[in-house]
Amino acid sequence: MNWNQVIRQIHRWLSIVFTLTVAANFAAMAAGEPPAWIVYSPLLPLFLLMFTGLYMFALPYLTRRRARRPAAG
Ligand code: HEM
Repeated sequence: MNWNQVIRQIHRWLSIVFTLTVAANFAAMAAGEPPAWIVYSPLLPLFLLMFTGLYMFALPYLTRRRARRPAAG
């Protein structure tokens, strides 16, 4: 598995973690005022999703630029 695939897998699984934390928020809110750690729990996975997502967004442009460069340098 190369580096880009690892990043994609991390993004994939983080999206599940993020979804679960959002679902936990709705569940906790149904039971009243949720504790702060539940309210803020989606932020860490969302933050990591942003970096892995922006990395994947940039990939096609980076590889295209690399392909244009002459082989010698
Ligand atoms: C926070 C900012 C985010 C950015 C910048 C971002 C960006 C991206 C990009 C560029 C891709 C690759 C698209 C392609 O194949 O060309 C991608 C794939 C994906 N994103 Fe995000 N994303 C973000 C957040 C999320 C969130 C919140 C979720 C879901 C909860 C999510 C779920 C996914 C999934 C499931 C894929 C497909 C992964 C795969 O191909 O295996 N992303 N995202």
